[in-house]
Amino acid sequence: MNKVSVLFFPDNLVAHVEPGTSLLRAASYAGVELKSNCGGEGTCGRCLVKVKDGRVKLKGKGNISAKARQAGLVLACQTVVDGNVVIEIPRDSRLDEHKVLLGEKEILVEKDEELAEGYPLQPLCRKFKLSLSAPTLIENASDLTRLQAALRSEVDCNDIHIGLNTLRTLADILRAGDWNVTATVAQLNGCADIVHLEQGHSSRQSFGLAVDIGTTTVVVYLIDLETGMTLGKKGTYNKQARYGDDVITRMIHASEKVDGLQDLHKAVISTINQLIDDLLAQGHVSGDDVHMVMVAGNTTMTHLFLGLTPKYIRLEPYIPLAASTPPVSAADLGLNINQNAFIACFPSVASYVGGDIVSGTLLTNMAKADEIILFIDIGTNGEMVLGNKDWLVTAACSAGPAFEGGGITFGMRAMKGAIEHVVIDPETFEVEVSTIGKMKPMGICGSGLIDCLAKFRETGIIDRAGKMQSDINTPRMREGDDGYEFVLVPGDVTECGKDIVITENDVKNLLRAKGAVYAGIRCLLKAVSLEESAIDKVLIAGGFGNYINIRDAIGIGLLPDLPAEKYVFIGNSSVKGSRLALLSQDAYREAQELGKKMTYIELSAGNEFMEEFVSALFLPHTDMNLFPTVTVVNKA
Ligand code: FES
Repeated sequence: MNKVSVLFFPDNLVAHVEPGTSLLRAASYAGVELKSNCGGEGTCGRCLVKVKDGRVKLKGKGNISAKARQAGLVLACQTVVDGNVVIEIPRDSRLDEHKVLLGEKEILVEKDEELAEGYPLQPLCRKFKLSLSAPTLIENASDLTRLQAALRSEVDCNDIHIGLNTLRTLADILRAGDWNVTATVAQLNGCADIVHLEQGHSSRQSFGLAVDIGTTTVVVYLIDLETGMTLGKKGTYNKQARYGDDVITRMIHASEKVDGLQDLHKAVISTINQLIDDLLAQGHVSGDDVHMVMVAGNTTMTHLFLGLTPKYIRLEPYIPLAASTPPVSAADLGLNINQNAFIACFPSVASYVGGDIVSGTLLTNMAKADEIILFIDIGTNGEMVLGNKDWLVTAACSAGPAFEGGGITFGMRAMKGAIEHVVIDPETFEVEVSTIGKMKPMGICGSGLIDCLAKFRETGIIDRAGKMQSDINTPRMREGDDGYEFVLVPGDVTECGKDIVITENDVKNLLRAKGAVYAGIRCLLKAVSLEESAIDKVLIAGGFGNYINIRDAIGIGLLPDLPAEKYVFIGNSSVKGSRLALLSQDAYREAQELGKKMTYIELSAGNEFMEEFVSALFLPHTDMNLFPTVTVVNKA
């Protein structure tokens, strides 16, 4: 069939596709990522584009507002090409409009972050400079036996392997270096694997990558394996987002669509390769010198990264294909580094408590602590671990993507332009907001939403059940398309030119998200017969960016009513834990044990979670005894 061209404007990127291809898919072929929260089902209304020229056909109606249609927009997933076309992509529809915040400087050559206490620097992959004796007629052991013998005392291990590709290079390398050789060796699970050989005593550096594969974003650190220094950090959107916003939609795509698993596998590999290419170029490092990769991701992300089907994760009794996976090579996955490099993944605990949580738990050192620690990672799922050196319990609650901006009219991730702080005058209802990067407001991120909900409660804009109080005296309260809404920022000062509002539906979604997280915490505490007051420290990781107001988070009943000094933010604990395991064999071993040590509590079994959840759907809670420091505001 003759292909047609689809030109995307203003990028000037072209895709050549067969007629009948959706604009969403064509955009992805051209390298333009569109927002597509529903994975192309036509229900989210996010993939809006404008047809500037050429012929298209509508394949379905989809969820598009009359306003958008009048503005000449169409849903890219519901529109197929029928000839050469020119498409304009509005700023609001782009997925990669802004860079992912890494919480620290994006690129740095730093002295170095300390490894966690108790873990000496002993990377998973190291170089050994060896001098072998030349063979003779009398001493005639093979080249490989000679190399293994020389390595044995260095690596303190008898089980030394070599892959066929590396073995093929051995004879010539030994002789070219006059029996001096440099071997790069990965040591995991009690085995040593020769990953790379160089003739003579080489001074080339060896590098590793620490990777966090999140459902929404992917972050990679480039690390010098000899010094432990982090040479660069990069993050971007997970290209899997084109197949759906959340893990369930992606699991369905992987298991029910033709080539669905391959689509998702290739998308995440391409995302990681893009970050690797950028990091290597920026650090002037050759991909051939990258020999080890440590990966943390939730259970579904790990499956998709390795090309394993996640089908049974979402079907009762919710079993992953593998909780622990063997190391693989870069060639197996198509990563743009040394093809013999070793890739290891953190083990998962259960279908919804994955390697990212094991990695975070490793970083927190809570499995060695005397005090009782609660570690919470708040993303699309609220995953949490409670315990100390004697016991660890864990659970995951489906909080929904509200705190990452999903399902909220003007919700967005914590990135430049996102409102992260809100103050409301209790008398005049005037609003002051501050944004990340001090830019014009584009939307509102998790920390801003928590602030907002707390201030709405305190000023009486909503009641304890989250209902908008339509009789308050301010023009900011108005009736919108979906009921009452409150105008946070008028359109004349926003980046998108639209009024940024919080609707009653947004409030309901936030109540459900905060209720799920708090109910999860209550269930974990009940499982070990403890009260909130028994918690000595709360460690918070996740997508809140740099800031979350603890008093507000307690005020809305998201977090337990504990003194603020008990709370500590630890940022992206998943990638930091990956870095730790990459640089410490002890830490890697500990991570393998952690996966087995954590007791998983399935919240969907029994009624307890549902009862706690329903009680937590008020501000802050139906049982005010649980929130003694929160004052109930009654403006009526
Ligand atoms: S409506 Fe097109 S991707 Fe959701």
